[in-house]
Amino acid sequence: MKKTILITGGLGFIGSHTAVELIKEGFDVVIVDNLVNSESFILDRIEQITGYLPMYYFADVCDELVIKQIFENHQIDAVIHFAALKAVGESVEKPIKYYRNNINSLLSILSLMEKFDCSFIVFSSSATVYGDSDKFPIDETFLFKQSLSAYGSTKQFGEDILEKVSNSSCLKSIALRYFNPVGAHPSGLLGELPIGKPNNLMPYLTQFAANKLDNFTVYGNDYSTKDGTCLRDYIHVVDLAKAHVRSCIFLLEDKNVKSFDAINIGTGKANSVLELITKFEEVNHVKLNYKIGNRRLGDAEVIYGSVDKAYNVLKWKAELTLDDMVRDAWNWQVNIS
Ligand code: NAD
Ligand code: WQD
Repeated sequence: MKKTILITGGLGFIGSHTAVELIKEGFDVVIVDNLVNSESFILDRIEQITGYLPMYYFADVCDELVIKQIFENHQIDAVIHFAALKAVGESVEKPIKYYRNNINSLLSILSLMEKFDCSFIVFSSSATVYGDSDKFPIDETFLFKQSLSAYGSTKQFGEDILEKVSNSSCLKSIALRYFNPVGAHPSGLLGELPIGKPNNLMPYLTQFAANKLDNFTVYGNDYSTKDGTCLRDYIHVVDLAKAHVRSCIFLLEDKNVKSFDAINIGTGKANSVLELITKFEEVNHVKLNYKIGNRRLGDAEVIYGSVDKAYNVLKWKAELTLDDMVRDAWNWQVNIS
């Protein structure tokens, strides 16, 4: 019997790639998304890639009464909960909006799962839960530092809620702590769709290269790193999507699943901003006339994690390279320009 996975936020950047990988692995997929940060044509793109049109509900996951109908209409075996607002800066300005959306959506899903005896959930967490670490690589045993943004707090609270609910019920949950997701589907049909001016490095860089933005600034070259720019663990979104597939299979099939577990998802490697830019120029034969500017407030010098647990528990590791990330991100940008 095919298993059915409910993907909240399934038309977003990571959710849409995960839908494709789940379908390729033989799962049935049901998507719910309120399009607050995505567009409905992504559903057709999923069909174009896989030959399968997933069931889609336009709804707000916070609206428990509406989402209840999805659980009534489908036998949901597991949930992957992506739906959240993710702009760190905006969350500092509008914390209530972030707490309301990100926490209420999780509570709504968890109470429905309990009502409908659905016992497995994969939660989109983030390396942001660790705060500004001074030890590397960061592993899952590191204690959280106080979050500076409401967004970061919603991921810390989200994990705490999952752990407590799982400990008091038959729920089994995995929080995947992503590092820096970038890249796009190799077909060029799916990728990141930032609304307005992007904040993150890769969409900023691709939009600048496509002449959609006037200037591109590297935020600081006076850090104590190999070339003075910040280091991050960039992970290809298709690898990340596959980590969700592995998590679902593990939850549904493995007898040794803990009630709650948190797992880093990255490559375990750290690349600088200048390395990413140089790689982009080399692979795509595009010159980027960037400027060196001041440091961005709140940026950590280095962020990269240990990914041993992902391999030991999920038997997953990242396979795609920085070349793949910059090539696919550019291919997607060229296709939507
Ligand atoms: P995204 O904005 O592209 O996707 C999120 C999707 O959720 C969007 O399609 C949006 O319309 C939908 N959504 C939001 N609130 C909703 C609600 N209440 N009801 C229904 N749909 C709702 O973001 P993404 O990059 O794909 O991120 C997915 C998840 O991964 C988020 O939880 C995010 O916090 C987390 N995450 C992202 C990154 C990153 O850098 N992209 C890093 C770490 C963690
Ligand atoms: C990467 C590097 C910038 C733009 C954020 C969130 C984090 C997680 C992932 C959700 C930094 C530099 C950037 C530019 C630049 N999201 N940069 N010029 O800040 O590591 O992480 O996304 O959970 O919570 O904080 O990612 O892509 O914004 O920045 O020089 O125009 O690129 O200074 O060193 P970040 P980013």
